Amino acid sequence: MAAPVPEFASRDPLSPGFWDERFEKAFTPWERGGMPQGLRDFVARTAQPLSALIPGCGSGRGLAFLMDAGWDATAIDFSPAAVALAQQAVGQWAGRVVEADFFAYAPPRQLDLIYEQAFLCAMPPAMWPRIAARWAELLPAGGLLAGFFFFGDSPKGPPFGIARAALQALLSPHFECIEDSEVADSIPVFAGKECWMAWRRR
Ligand SMILES: C[S@@+](CC[C@H](N)C(=O)[O-])C[C@H]1O[C@@H](n2cnc3c(N)ncnc32)[C@H](O)[C@@H]1O
Repeated sequence: MAAPVPEFASRDPLSPGFWDERFEKAFTPWERGGMPQGLRDFVARTAQPLSALIPGCGSGRGLAFLMDAGWDATAIDFSPAAVALAQQAVGQWAGRVVEADFFAYAPPRQLDLIYEQAFLCAMPPAMWPRIAARWAELLPAGGLLAGFFFFGDSPKGPPFGIARAALQALLSPHFECIEDSEVADSIPVFAGKECWMAWRRR
């Protein structure tokens, strides 16, 4: 039987408090267990280590994997509870977890990659143009936005699924899609509704 959903005071995913509450009550249904195969494969086929940013990192999944692979990664989150969990989870890489708002964060080094995992879908659709614009601002020409994109049309969220055509319209002014593949190891909340994608900054 599924565990009961706790009571929450905050209903606004644009506020750090919304996410704090969910991390503090250990209600994190978006979290994958191990490292997703899509990320493993991407790292394996990438010739050079990249300088990566993980926006909205939650409990920090992906950071230690990239650092252990010799990549230069930073994970940010605006929820203090998420940052505390992530710093604990990533051990020696705790200094690479930064409490910061994605829309204000200025990376200390030029980025090659933004890794997307349950960040776009954490935000209501009205925010998507701002997210896409910030992704584009943070990446130089040739830089990559890669990760998991959640498709759907439910007006209620998070997670807020995006229609394929809407994602194309959102990103194509700044990015060209260079990878698009099915995901076989999704967790139930995303199963059959997500793809691994990589978008190259124009
Ligand atoms: C659905 S969770 C996904 C966490 C993680 N990416 C994962 O897949 O496990 C969304 C995360 O985005 C963070 N977040 C939302 N808005 C943010 C913002 N403006 N700046 C930084 N982090 C933000 C939340 O605090 C939360 O940890």
